[in-house]
Amino acid sequence: MIIAIDGPAACGKGTLGKRVAAHYGLAHLDTGTLYRAVARETLARGADPADAGAAASVARILDPASLADPGLRAQRLGETASVVARHPEVREALLAYQRSFARRKPGAVLDGRDIGTVICPDADVKLFVTATPEERARRRFRELTQTGSPVTEAEVFDDIRRRDERDANRAAAPLVRAEDAVLLDTTNLDIDAAFRAAIELIDAALAHAGQAV
Ligand code: CDP
Repeated sequence: MIIAIDGPAACGKGTLGKRVAAHYGLAHLDTGTLYRAVARETLARGADPADAGAAASVARILDPASLADPGLRAQRLGETASVVARHPEVREALLAYQRSFARRKPGAVLDGRDIGTVICPDADVKLFVTATPEERARRRFRELTQTGSPVTEAEVFDDIRRRDERDANRAAAPLVRAEDAVLLDTTNLDIDAAFRAAIELIDAALAHAGQAV
């Protein structure tokens, strides 16, 4: 079973993905960490993230063991991640890992921007999670200040708007709702309510497809 969760920056898909995976006993991959890890290593090499060749050479030898590092959540890496994520060569280099992760038994939840459209177009269930930019900035600001990051809410808001714009308008695998994805707007839902809503939508989609949960 494959569950695809896509949505814009800080919409809550990472937290939802983790909880949904635990609920159904599935593996979970936050695909944003792949792009964040490529961003960090590209910067560490002193290379330019806008240089497709430099970023792709990092992506081709990315070690999945590095993805668990909480340091990848740093705000500046989100920004650089959206720069390296524009390069088709980088996306191509990360494709096989994501597809093979999706085939894990008994199934997997993947969250990102292009899971339902490019990585797993045949996913059993697709959710597209949204919330207003203001609400997403509020949540991400809270999360970042809890980890001691020195940011202001205005900076977080600007970062989110800039990344949304870049992610939605790039040529390669842009952020877009798959035609068959179910929309979940979490603007007025806290994480528990969003989780319950997600489970209801997923159970309904699985029942509709005739699959046992
Ligand atoms: O957690 P947040 O929503 O802030 O971002 P993320 O999911 O960690 O993703 C960071 C950046 O990686 C995004 O802004 C995208 O540019 C890129 N990304 C992507 O292009 N495709 C994905 N499947 C996941 C992330």
